[in-house]
Amino acid sequence: MADEKPETLSIVIIGASGDLARRKIIPALFALYCQNLIPGPFRVFGFARTAMTHEAFRQMASEHLTCRYVPHSRCEDRMAEFLSRCYYQEGQYDSADSLLDLYRALRTEEGSVRAHRMFYLAVPPAVFLGVARAIGNAGLVECGGGEGWSRVVIEKPFGRDRATSDVLVEEMGRVFREDQTYRIDHYLGKEIVQNLMVLRFANLFFEPVWNRMFIERVSIAWSEEQGIGSRGGYFDGYGIIRDVMQNHLLQILALMAMEEPTHYDARAVCDEKVRLLRSIPPLTVDDVVIGQYRATERKDQVLPGYRQEVQVPPDSRTPTYAAVRLKINNRRWEGVPFLMTAGKGLSHRTNEIRVRFRAVPRNIFCGPEGTCLEPNELVIRIQPDEGLVLRLMNKVPGLGMELAPTDLNLRYAAAFPVQIPDAYECLLLDVLKGDRSLFIRSDELAVAWDIFTPVLHALEEQRVEPLPYAIGSEGPV
Ligand SMILES: NC(=O)c1ccc[n+]([C@@H]2O[C@H](COP(=O)([O-])OP(=O)(O)OC[C@H]3O[C@@H](n4cnc5c(N)ncnc54)[C@H](OP(=O)(O)O)[C@@H]3O)[C@@H](O)[C@H]2O)c1
Repeated sequence: MADEKPETLSIVIIGASGDLARRKIIPALFALYCQNLIPGPFRVFGFARTAMTHEAFRQMASEHLTCRYVPHSRCEDRMAEFLSRCYYQEGQYDSADSLLDLYRALRTEEGSVRAHRMFYLAVPPAVFLGVARAIGNAGLVECGGGEGWSRVVIEKPFGRDRATSDVLVEEMGRVFREDQTYRIDHYLGKEIVQNLMVLRFANLFFEPVWNRMFIERVSIAWSEEQGIGSRGGYFDGYGIIRDVMQNHLLQILALMAMEEPTHYDARAVCDEKVRLLRSIPPLTVDDVVIGQYRATERKDQVLPGYRQEVQVPPDSRTPTYAAVRLKINNRRWEGVPFLMTAGKGLSHRTNEIRVRFRAVPRNIFCGPEGTCLEPNELVIRIQPDEGLVLRLMNKVPGLGMELAPTDLNLRYAAAFPVQIPDAYECLLLDVLKGDRSLFIRSDELAVAWDIFTPVLHALEEQRVEPLPYAIGSEGPV
């Protein structure tokens, strides 16, 4: 018989005064609430060191709420209902006493029913372990005694290299079991990234050409116009390879290149990603180009270079740009380069995957070499303006036989005129449902670090000077 015991849910945001909580987590929870996707009675508990009343927290939480899912006439009421479920507890992150205070406050609101708890660690990485231990010591985590579930969500960076990541995994594992741990990579929550598997495995015609025989190279590019801004303190310890490549771009690569999972479930998908990542040899310095944006004059103004940013040492060699060439040593991809580029302070904001097919080997339209034809290309645009473009050769209408590359263009916004959910909405809903398909498993994290750790260490030990590039350019020459 079904267990009829009443249940309740507490969502605890540690670091609730911060940017991520305000801009992403709380608005995503509100969006789920508006769609009635948060089950049963629930509350959101903010926890941080900043002194704040419940009222002040509600005021802060309301700043970024939007009414995308409810009619405007009902918007204020829905916001008021949601905010009335928000509470705040001030405390120190590594103090069991502070966490005990939180526990008491939670129990008061939860009552005596079975309570499920989700902890979102929205704090800088230096605080992760201390707060996780304090949560454990305060007895806030379900240990398998038939109480409600406990789950923890953590944000990258998951360490700085393989060794620090292993320590983090092991230490966190003393408080939360692996199946309770949700390592978030918000790129995996993006609609079009989730669509990669559908594209590959729910369409017949990609599979026969998805290999070294037909594909010349795959490029994954990520760029931002802004520099580091106020994040210098964090970024200088990590750099672009750790910030973007080792996680977001590598995840995209894995989804593009892995074999078809036996089932569409978390375990099978992750198993295939891990298998693929294990086929990638560790990068060496020869596989990498690094760059750093320099002070640049623009319209009578000098834009500060990376070394002039707040909290960045004037001799920093931290890369703000990197280009890497990865190999995949398996039968499908032998000899096909996977190129990744990522940079800040570049000419435009983009994230796209380009699958470049081989040229038609012998072509009746342009002689024996076939070189007059542009090869086909599939472009998957993740941001901005999500979409797919397939570049095909076509005859230009007219009396002659002129050929031109032409795009089949599928813009998500036009093809699916629905509200595209924010990645955090999708991922938080999965945490509530207990679905770990879009989260990073510990073995996956380890193998991702194995690919990048040797080159990160080599760049640092050899103090490799990044190539300079102008802000607003395409990166280093
Ligand atoms: N913001 C984003 O869009 C984003 C995106 C991806 C990943 N992340 C990751 O998510 C986590 C949170 O990001 P965030 O941008 O919200 O960070 P944040 O605003 O810098 O920090 C969140 C809160 O942590 C506390 N805090 C800050 N520095 C601290 C320190 N040195 N020691 C102890 N507590 C400190 C502050 O709260 P109190 O002073 O009130 O305690 C702050 O409000 C980080 O791990 C970040 O790398 C963020």
